[in-house]
Amino acid sequence: MVRDNPGILLAISQAVKTAVTECRYQFKDRRWNCPTMKNVQGPNSLFGKLLNTACRETSFIYAITSAAVAHSVARSCSEGSLETCTCDYKYQRPSDEDWEWGGCSDNIAFGHRFSQKFVDADEKGRDLRFMMNIHNNEVGRLTVSSDMRRECKCHGMSGSCTIRTCWMRLPTFRSVGEFLKDRFDGASRVALRNEGVRGNSNRGDRGDRRDRGDRSDNGGTEANFQPYNSNHKPPGPRDLVYFDDSPDFCVRNERAGTLGTVGRECNNTSLGVDGCDLMCCGRDYDGSQVRIKERCSCTFHWCCKVKCQECTSIRTVYRCQ
Ligand SMILES: *[C@@H]1O[C@H](CO)[C@@H](O)[C@H](O)[C@H]1NC(C)=O
Ligand SMILES: *[C@@H]1O[C@H](CO)[C@@H](O)[C@H](O)[C@H]1NC(C)=O
Repeated sequence: MVRDNPGILLAISQAVKTAVTECRYQFKDRRWNCPTMKNVQGPNSLFGKLLNTACRETSFIYAITSAAVAHSVARSCSEGSLETCTCDYKYQRPSDEDWEWGGCSDNIAFGHRFSQKFVDADEKGRDLRFMMNIHNNEVGRLTVSSDMRRECKCHGMSGSCTIRTCWMRLPTFRSVGEFLKDRFDGASRVALRNEGVRGNSNRGDRGDRRDRGDRSDNGGTEANFQPYNSNHKPPGPRDLVYFDDSPDFCVRNERAGTLGTVGRECNNTSLGVDGCDLMCCGRDYDGSQVRIKERCSCTFHWCCKVKCQECTSIRTVYRCQ
């Protein structure tokens, strides 16, 4: 696929960086803060052994990564950096509106399709874990494609807006991250349906992976799951799913692939997850004074300079023992 799509490797590597940056941002205040491994070798090792556990955090990693690939490839198409795709020109003029389609729409159709073929190709087998990964990948991609928004521009004498042309723009990746983080908090713990995978759709019960291209067009992967707790409602197409408990992120555990929270910065007054009590899992924490240099007392000089002084302040930073 990489050979068939010159330029796509750059889009994929940018996607991985974007996914990691966004994951770290969304989880900066949590015990699990999306750490990545330094010496990456072999499949899946960027996020370490945690991916061997089918927990909530793993579901987020799959979703944000496949979302990032769809997002990055869709943008690369409209930027002209890929040979095999262009802007999306398929939008048709709505008959009863005072604007028309024009300009260059981000090609989410191509991005979605590519991410599906490329990211899902890593998944083999037909078990619950396979279903979970494929489903969470699709949750990520759907987050991007369903939040596309219309942008318009006016043309005409002195901004009179006699002609308005519009195109479809990708959501910011921050908003994709916010949405998925929300889904992380409300993720569904699932089990495989008793009927197995045959009842509702033919997803996953064929060995040929090339059949997966049209997966999202014939019913949802969520049809394969039932809630672990029968009082909970079944997951929908945009809900993240998992089935293992999360490991204990408080302590370092090589086997589970967790680093623990020793040395993590915490907030001594917050009662939330970033507070020292929760972050340090009840252990002690140390405060140390750090000197912070900041620009301050800035003034504006005509025209056009901003002059600032440098101020030093002392802040106490608390870290878990
Ligand atoms: C939290 O830290 C601040 C600043 O270092 C300190 O003044 C305050 O007493 C601390 N509060 C608690 C509850 O430890
Ligand atoms: C610590 O938490 C308190 C209460 O939530 C908040 O007002 C304060 O800004 C936080 N301090 C830092 C340094 O994040």
